[in-house]
Amino acid sequence: MPEPTQTDRATSRVHQTMAAAARGRVRPAPPVETLALDGIAKRYGETVALAGASLTFTPGIHTILGENGSGKSTMLKILSGVVDPSEGRLLLGGREFTAGSPREMRDRGLSTVFQEVLIAPHRSVADNVFLGTDGFLRRTLARAEAWEAARALLGLLARFPIDPDALAGTLPLASQQIVVIARALARLPSILLLDEATAALDYADRDRVFEVVEDYARHGALVIFISHRMEEVKRLSDRVTVLRSGRLVETLARGEVTSRRLLDLMAPEARLHVA
Ligand SMILES: Nc1ncnc2c1ncn2[C@@H]1O[C@H](COP(=O)(O)OP(=O)(O)O)[C@@H](O)[C@H]1O
Ligand SMILES: [Mg+2]
Repeated sequence: MPEPTQTDRATSRVHQTMAAAARGRVRPAPPVETLALDGIAKRYGETVALAGASLTFTPGIHTILGENGSGKSTMLKILSGVVDPSEGRLLLGGREFTAGSPREMRDRGLSTVFQEVLIAPHRSVADNVFLGTDGFLRRTLARAEAWEAARALLGLLARFPIDPDALAGTLPLASQQIVVIARALARLPSILLLDEATAALDYADRDRVFEVVEDYARHGALVIFISHRMEEVKRLSDRVTVLRSGRLVETLARGEVTSRRLLDLMAPEARLHVA
């Protein structure tokens, strides 16, 4: 895949949608070359959630696949600055940094959709899309622009309109999940982390979200996508890393990925039973 130019980066469907709604006033996060874990470990008492993880992410879609409890969310929370590692270093563009807080990570161009749907139920959908932006986008955008940006982003992601004025808590879980994805994209992040972010969506909505994410990655973003669904992993991944019991087992490139190979890496003992 050729390196996207700076112009390419600004032409994803998400960028274009935000530019049209907010008259180009939300500036995309600076481009990212690499994000890396170096010897990252996380222990919770006796539990080793993640052990000696070293991995470099580059632009494109990099999937983390593993069974329940294999350490996927822990890895993503460490990258997001929500959880401190017990050991190891994080590097952005080859330079070590401390993931001080979720806010600092956002300032570095990173947006996360966590596995739990985090929504403010008594606020409007539009407010929820711009929630946690520390006033930055709200200062930059007039209320009408923010409303329009929310409407347009939701229209890109969902098949059926989601009313920006609705109270978020009254929406079905699937719509709430789309609101949370819109929130992550509204900042035009250069790094997008998705932790089972489409779990509540039906097949058609999931497909739509995937198209948006694929397009976003094609324009230079680094996307880390966590899933345990084989079909979506095969569809989306430029690279797949398999985790098992807190350890990185292997990283495969797109051409090397088959269901059989992935299942083997996830749970080799399971194969003994089916074989
Ligand atoms: N806050 C926590 N306190 C104690 N144990 C935890 C905590 N978070 C995760 N764990 C444990 O760490 C392991 C990895 O969890 P997690 O990263 O959530 O896995 P996954 O996302 O792959 O399902 C599990 O054994 C889990 O029970
Ligand atoms: Mg998880």
